[in-house]
Amino acid sequence: MDAPDFSLEGTNAVVTGASQGIGQAIAETFAAAGANVAICSRSMDRVGPVAESINDADVPGRAFAAECDVRERDDVEAFFAAAADEFGGLDVVVNNAGGEFIAPFADISEGGWEAVTDLNLGGTYRCCQVAGEYLRTGEAGDGGTIVNMASVNGQHPAPNESHYGAAKAAIIRLTETLAVEWAQDDVRVNCIAPGLIQTPGVADTLGIDESDIPARSETYRRIGYPEEIADLAAFLVSPAASFVTGETYTAKGVPRPGNSMNHDLGLK
Ligand SMILES: NC(=O)c1ccc[n+]([C@@H]2O[C@H](COP(=O)([O-])OP(=O)(O)OC[C@H]3O[C@@H](n4cnc5c(N)ncnc54)[C@H](OP(=O)(O)O)[C@@H]3O)[C@@H](O)[C@H]2O)c1
Repeated sequence: MDAPDFSLEGTNAVVTGASQGIGQAIAETFAAAGANVAICSRSMDRVGPVAESINDADVPGRAFAAECDVRERDDVEAFFAAAADEFGGLDVVVNNAGGEFIAPFADISEGGWEAVTDLNLGGTYRCCQVAGEYLRTGEAGDGGTIVNMASVNGQHPAPNESHYGAAKAAIIRLTETLAVEWAQDDVRVNCIAPGLIQTPGVADTLGIDESDIPARSETYRRIGYPEEIADLAAFLVSPAASFVTGETYTAKGVPRPGNSMNHDLGLK
């Protein structure tokens, strides 16, 4: 009898948007499970300390940080090349960088629509395409794996988040399509759709303190935490998920009775 293989030992992973929140938790969890992690954000001042703290911790994985804006193709290419160079190849990519602002659909300008769709969907498109150069080795059994970060907003309508919901829904379909296109390369591609998770980004979006986020949760019992999304990501990139591809995993707790979704950040 074998125990399930959740180890990430010997794995080299890229995690985008890892200076805080869910991305930081994913980087820390992966390093604790044995992976080397290359992490980025738009600011080395913000992402550098996350790498330092991983490297100072008593965990088997090492961390490498670089500045990279996922809206810029040149940045993405340079970051992936530096990460592959640092660790001697890449096996795992988590496209986590994302964000939004809330506004009624009628008030979203061309620039606002473009900003949110380009960060979330455009960033995922760019990073998946560049990731393919490293993960599609052409050798049977040697493909890597990608996890894209969607949202319950990509599965259910949420008022005042039309741009974000449209981008996240498209990420789910992009994931399904890539899983089919790259199956012959042994590249698994999956998606996570979190409900409301307590992060600095959510506090910023709502203009409230992080400690006040739980009051906005419409889940039955409690809000979610970044580490709980990180654990799901760790499973999806591990050998234990070897037959899982093209899927979207929702992590949203249990909605309160009468709520079909738990992610209405609507303008009150
Ligand atoms: N928290 C939730 O409730 C929730 C729910 C569903 C889905 N999600 C998704 O989960 C992901 C992480 O969410 P979060 O709440 O942890 O977000 P967060 O706290 O706002 O953190 C976002 C991270 O992305 C980085 N980032 C932003 N723009 C970037 C860019 N253009 N290029 C590179 N990095 C960039 C930020 O770093 P810098 O500012 O240093 O660049 C930061 O590290 C996002 O895709 C989000 O849409 C979150």
